[in-house]
Amino acid sequence: MSKRKILVSSALPYANGEIHLGHLLEYIQTDIWVRYQRMMGNECHYVCADDAHGTPIMLKAQELGITPEELIAGVSERHQADFKDFAIEFSQYHSTHSDENREVSEGIYKKLNDAGYIKKRTISQAFDPEKKMFLPDRFIKGDCPKCGAVEQYGDNCESCGATYSTTELKNAKSAVSGATPITKESEHYFFDLPQFEEKLKKWTDAGHLQPEIRNKLSEWFDQGLQQWDISRDAPYFGFQIPGVKDKFFYVWLDAPIGYMGSFKKLCDETGLDFDEYFNKDSKTEMYHFIGKDIVYFHALFWPATLMGSNYRTPNAIFAHGFLTVNGQKMSKSRGTFIQARTYLNHLNPECLRYYYSYKLTPKIDDIDLNLEDFKQRVNSDLVGKVVNIASRSAGFIVKKYNRTLSAYAIESDLYNQFLAKGDEIASMYESRNYNQAMREIMKLADKANQYIDENKPWQLVKEDGKEAMVHDVTSLAINLFRVLMTYLKPVLPVMAKDAEKFLNIDELTWGAIKHPLTKHKINKFKPMMMRIEDEQIANLIEASKENIQQISNDNETQDDNMIQIDDFSKIDLRIAKIVKAQEVEGADKLVQLTLDIGEEGTRNVFAGIKEYYTPEDLEGRLTVMVANLAPRKMRFGVSEGMILAASDGKSVHLLSSDSDAKPGMKIR
Ligand code: MSP
Ligand code: ZN
Repeated sequence: MSKRKILVSSALPYANGEIHLGHLLEYIQTDIWVRYQRMMGNECHYVCADDAHGTPIMLKAQELGITPEELIAGVSERHQADFKDFAIEFSQYHSTHSDENREVSEGIYKKLNDAGYIKKRTISQAFDPEKKMFLPDRFIKGDCPKCGAVEQYGDNCESCGATYSTTELKNAKSAVSGATPITKESEHYFFDLPQFEEKLKKWTDAGHLQPEIRNKLSEWFDQGLQQWDISRDAPYFGFQIPGVKDKFFYVWLDAPIGYMGSFKKLCDETGLDFDEYFNKDSKTEMYHFIGKDIVYFHALFWPATLMGSNYRTPNAIFAHGFLTVNGQKMSKSRGTFIQARTYLNHLNPECLRYYYSYKLTPKIDDIDLNLEDFKQRVNSDLVGKVVNIASRSAGFIVKKYNRTLSAYAIESDLYNQFLAKGDEIASMYESRNYNQAMREIMKLADKANQYIDENKPWQLVKEDGKEAMVHDVTSLAINLFRVLMTYLKPVLPVMAKDAEKFLNIDELTWGAIKHPLTKHKINKFKPMMMRIEDEQIANLIEASKENIQQISNDNETQDDNMIQIDDFSKIDLRIAKIVKAQEVEGADKLVQLTLDIGEEGTRNVFAGIKEYYTPEDLEGRLTVMVANLAPRKMRFGVSEGMILAASDGKSVHLLSSDSDAKPGMKIR
C-alpha cells in the first residue's frame, strides 16, 4: 500500500482558560490516531493552535489589566506545556492571532466576497451604554421571564431550562459593567449559507460524517439554513475586516481557518507544499477531530466556507462525546473539574491515555471517567497484566541466561497467535474503535499470563534438567510483551520508550514484530508503571477544589506570598530518625547528621544547629526533613536534604514527632 498523506486537527482550545480533562479526551483521542498513522508508515501532520480571538478573551485581558496579546502568550505557553506532558505531539501548535492566519482568513473572505457570498444587513442588538460595546448573550444577566430565577444568562435559564431571547429577560444587566443594556443598530456582514444547501446536502450524503451527526444535519436542513453573521463591531479582539473600519471577523470565522494558518506555518518551516494539501483536487486526506458541541461550525459553516473559497473539503469530521466525571458533569464544587496540570501533579499521564482509550469508540456518546473504575482498570490492565508479563520473566533472563533470549519464540504457536491479531487491532485504531483495540490487546495479555502461570518457571527452575525450558518460557514471555507494547505504543508512547530500553531495541514497530527477538540481549527490568493508589485520587480531587477557589479569587488581590496546595505538595516532607550525629571538623555551626527515612535508606545532611545541640541530644530523635531538596555541595561534603527547626534568630528548636511515627512517613 502506498503511503498516505494525511492532515489532522484537533479543535483549537480557547485562549482564556486552562486545559482540563474534558479537552484532553479530544487531544488524546487525536494524538493516538496520529501516532497510529505514523506507525503505519503514513505521512501524518497534526496541527492545532490556540483560539485567541473574541469578546471573552478581550474582557479577560482587561480584567487582568494586561493586553490580549499578553494574555494569549501566557496561556499558549501553559497549554503547550500541558500537551507536551500528556505526550500529545503536534506537528505544529500555533495561534489564530498570527500572520499566517490573518493572511489565509483575509484571502478566504475576499474570495467569498468576490463570489457574492457575503451579504450586508443592519440588525439591532443589546448594547452596553457604559462600556460602549455590543453584548454577546452570555454577557447579559437577568431574571428568567418564565420562572423568575435571578442572575440567569442572556438566552437560557439554568433553573427551569427555558430558552428565550435576551430582550425578554427581566431586569437585564450587562455582566461587564452592570448597566442596563439598550438596543442599538449596526450593519453586519453575513455569510450566505443557504446558497450552499444543495452542495452541503450532497457532501453530507457522501459518507464524511458519523451516522449520528448526519441525522443532526438532516434536522438542520429541515429547519432551513440561515445566513451566518460573521462580523463583530469594535471593540473586539480579532482581525479587522479588510477595508472596513471598526468591524472584525467573528472569532468562529477565523478559528477553523486557524487549521490552515497553523499548517501554513508548518509548511513555511519544513518545506511542505500547502497547496498540495488544500487545493480543490488534493489527493491528500484531511480530518478534524472535534467535540459534539461544535458540529454546526465544522459540518456546515466550515465545508461551506471551503467550498465558497475554492479549497478542498475535509474527508471526515470525527466528533466525540463529552466527558463526565463519576457520572456527572465536571463540577467545581465536587472537585471533578480537573485541570490538566493538577492531574499531572498527582498521576501518571499515561494512565489517563489508557483509560480514555479503553472508553473511546467511534460514537459520540458521552464518556464517563469514573475515578474508582479508572484506578482499577489501570492497575489491573497495565500494571497487573501487561507490565507483569515482563516483570515476572525478566529476572530469569537477566540472572540465569546472561540477559540473552532463547530462539524459542520462532517456533511458538502462541507467538503466531499474537501476530495474527495485528491487522485486526490496526483496523480498530484506524476506525477509532480504541475500546475494542484495548480489549483485544488485554485478551492477549491474559493469554500471555496464563501461559506463564501454566508453565511456572519459578517452579521449573528448581527442577533438574528444566534449564532450557525455563529459558524458553521466559524468553517467549518477553517476546509476547514486545508484541503487546508495540500494539499499545500509540496509546502509551512513554511506556513504549521504557520498553524499548528494557528490550534493548531501537524502536517498537508494527513491521518488526514478525521477527521475534532471539539470541538477543535485554536490559535489566525497571518498573514501567506504578499502581494508582486511592490516596492519589483523593489528593487530586482535593487539589481541584482548591484550584477552583484560587480561580474564583482571581479578581481579588492575591497575597504574593500565598502558595497553592500543589506548590506545597511538591515538598516531600518525611519523618526522619537521626541515627548518627557528628561534629564537623573546621565548622563552627554545622553538625553532620545521618538520617534514616525508612525504605529509601539514609541521607547525609549538614545542619546549622551545633550551638544548640550536642550530638548526644540529637541521636535517636525523630524529626522532620525535606527529602526532595536538590543535593547541595558544601565544603565538608554533600548535603542531601534539610531538617526542620523553629527559630527566632536567638534559639533553635528542632521539630520532633510522636515517638510512634515511623521513619520515612510522609507529612501531609
Ligand atoms: N475554540 C473552540 C473550537 C474552535 S475549532 C476551530 C472551542 N474551544 S474549547 O476550548 O471550548 O474546546 C476545545 C475542544 O475541546 C472542543 O472540541 C470541545 O468539544 C472539547 N471539549 C471541551 N470540553 C469538553 C468536555 N468536557 N468533554 C469532551 N470534550 C470537551 O470549542
Ligand atoms: Zn427559569
